[in-house]
Amino acid sequence: MSNLERGVWLLLILTVFLSSRGLAQESPLMSPLSPSVKTCQTCHPAHYEQWQQSYHSKSMVSIQAGFKKFITTQEQKKGRALNRNELMACVGCHAPAMRFAADEAFARLAHLVKTDQKQALENLSVDCISCHSLVVNGHSDQKPPQKIADYVFHSTIQNPLKTVHGNKYAAHMANSDFCKSCHTYVTPADMKISADWDIVCSLTFDAWAEGPHGLKAKAADQKQCQSCHMEKTKGKAAAIGRTSLPVRELSSHLFPGWHSSEALQKAAVITLDSKRDRKTGAAEIVVTIENRAGHRIPDT
Ligand code: HEC
Ligand code: HEC
Ligand code: HEC
Ligand code: HEC
Ligand code: HEC
Repeated sequence: MSNLERGVWLLLILTVFLSSRGLAQESPLMSPLSPSVKTCQTCHPAHYEQWQQSYHSKSMVSIQAGFKKFITTQEQKKGRALNRNELMACVGCHAPAMRFAADEAFARLAHLVKTDQKQALENLSVDCISCHSLVVNGHSDQKPPQKIADYVFHSTIQNPLKTVHGNKYAAHMANSDFCKSCHTYVTPADMKISADWDIVCSLTFDAWAEGPHGLKAKAADQKQCQSCHMEKTKGKAAAIGRTSLPVRELSSHLFPGWHSSEALQKAAVITLDSKRDRKTGAAEIVVTIENRAGHRIPDT
């Protein structure tokens, strides 16, 4: 074979290889709601950036392996594919917008999860609309509007400016109860997978409620989830060209947790103290671990 022929063969093999890889990558499953987070990004770039780094934006991608195990074991047990309601039992929290998706989207969702198509799950997550429109309205069954002008987003700015979407002050978004709708969950008995593997997603609300900053604590000691997980700074709530906007108290959307080494460092204070027994000369080391999180660490 001449060098040229070899080159042609290599190119052919490479093309076949690349196109088969191309086939394996399926198109993403889009959120059934619009506008997308990209629209929010245009005027709320700082909120978007923080949210994108948070695990709320990865809430479908990061559970893919566990979700796959759940779907495959349940299908084996039932001898059929899981239906819409059975899948909603997971994505109700991990991708709240899915409740407005067509039935076909659920079959596709299960397929993507079972075939490890993580990237195709990226557009489904706990996103801006999930918190500021769906959860805050108690997961109402009314289908949300398609146009941004018809939306009313709730949050804790008391006198928000008029803009392309409606705004509404919702004091309860500053309280732990708002987080409770997703941060208290144990798999119901009829969905258990096996004695040695189960999904206990998040019981932080329950542990917080009982803990030193929770509902049973003195008023002065109570701290809401937001005071530890949504740090406050001063700044502008939106950025629109040269339009001048008022300075407000802003809340970080990074939601640090066990994936964040900074949060872990704040979680516990470890002190070492040594005592020596005068008679025997033996040393005793006293280790004190003080839990500074508002709940059990690690959670489950
Ligand atoms: C054209 C620009 C623009 C776009 C696009 C936009 N916003 Fe806004 N948004 C604003 C402005 C301006 C404010 C008011 C800021 C202020 O009063 O300081 C605001 C306020 C808010 C508030 C605070 C409401 C309150 O009462 O506390 C939320 C929540 C919000 N937007 C969410 C969103 C979401 C979610 C999207 C995407 C679906 C979005 N915004 C898209 C400009 C925009
Ligand atoms: C719509 C449901 C939903 C709401 C509402 C919600 N969360 Fe979450 N949250 C999730 C899900 C799902 C995850 C898991 C993401 C993952 O690990 O894939 C998560 C993860 C987290 C984490 C862990 C981050 C990490 O490093 O693993 C923290 C902290 C957190 N949420 C705090 C809050 C706080 C505080 C509130 C209330 C202001 C709140 N969440 C409201 C669904 C929600
Ligand atoms: C009530 C809300 C809720 C429901 C329903 C729910 N989850 Fe979760 N899940 C969460 C939250 C919140 C976390 C984050 C916990 C943390 O970071 O400490 C989480 C975490 C997880 C994780 C670990 C993610 C990681 O980053 O390591 C997996 C896997 C998971 N869920 C799978 C499922 C499956 C499968 C179902 C359905 C059987 C389900 N979840 C139902 C709220 C929920
Ligand atoms: C897990 C739920 C959750 C998600 C996801 C979320 N937010 Fe928020 N957001 C909140 C809460 C809760 C507050 C109010 C916190 C407080 O007052 O302590 C807030 C406050 C705001 C505010 C008012 C100003 C401020 O910083 O306090 C704006 C604007 C906002 N969010 C925009 C967005 C945008 C844009 C996205 C998507 C990129 C987004 N949020 C995603 C829960 C969420
Ligand atoms: C006093 C401060 C404080 C309060 C109040 C608080 N947290 Fe945390 N939380 C922390 C710290 C620090 C961590 C990091 C330690 C860790 O993850 O092990 C953490 C971790 C977490 C995680 C990851 C847990 C894990 O181990 O998987 C979640 C989810 C979470 N918090 C949610 C909440 C929710 C929801 C509330 C309100 C019901 C809340 N937190 C109240 C400080 C707090």
